[in-house]
Amino acid sequence: MNEPSPPRFRRVADFLLSDPLVRLRPPQPTDNDELCSAINESIAEMAPFLPWVGQGYSLEKGRIWLGDVCDDHHPAPQEIAFIIEQRPANVFAGAISLNNPDATARSVQIGYWMRTTLAGQGLMTAAVRLLTRHTLTTLGFTRVEILADPANAASCRVAEKAGLTFECLITRPAPECNPPHRTLRRYVITT
Ligand SMILES: CC(C)(COP(=O)(O)OP(=O)(O)OC[C@H]1O[C@@H](n2cnc3c(N)ncnc32)[C@H](O)[C@@H]1OP(=O)(O)O)[C@@H](O)C(=O)NCCC(=O)NCCS
Repeated sequence: MNEPSPPRFRRVADFLLSDPLVRLRPPQPTDNDELCSAINESIAEMAPFLPWVGQGYSLEKGRIWLGDVCDDHHPAPQEIAFIIEQRPANVFAGAISLNNPDATARSVQIGYWMRTTLAGQGLMTAAVRLLTRHTLTTLGFTRVEILADPANAASCRVAEKAGLTFECLITRPAPECNPPHRTLRRYVITT
């Protein structure tokens, strides 16, 4: 029997996924101002759970991230990111990414954040549902994981509402934290 082809993990420039609440599209270098505004107005909610935010998210940080995730020619990308827009006006709402792909296990993780002014409206649940379905039905992955801090009730709720199931607690290194590791709840959905 033929081996299945490896999962696809590359940026598709004209990619769009949508439902009545949200639209997911690839990031563009021109997103930097909106990106930084959305993160900086949401620092209080994001910083406890997303250490990369730091005490403030500079235009330079945004430029570097966008340069990375907008690179169509990267030979082995580690992150495929999407901007989440609130429909129908396509307002910049947040971001969601596929990351840490494991081609052998056909497994990938999803990470996300939502700007605080648009939180609590079901937008992230819709985005996770869309991206999970696409990942499992079209990209060739058979397992999607979300890692959430046990104290992050909103993120745990999003994972559950989007159809993932709590699997176990994991501890992983986090050099930026003190102590330098984090214990996280792992949520999973498989084909
Ligand atoms: C977590 C996050 C992405 C949720 O986005 P969102 O668009 O508000 O999510 P949704 O509206 O789809 O769902 C949020 C759910 O969490 C619930 N919730 C929110 N705050 C909560 C809290 N403090 N305790 C318990 N539940 C909470 C909401 O009530 C809702 O559930 P419900 O529909 O059953 O009422 C957003 O809060 C965020 O970006 N937080 C900071 C960054 C972050 O934590 N990223 C994830 C790292 S793993």
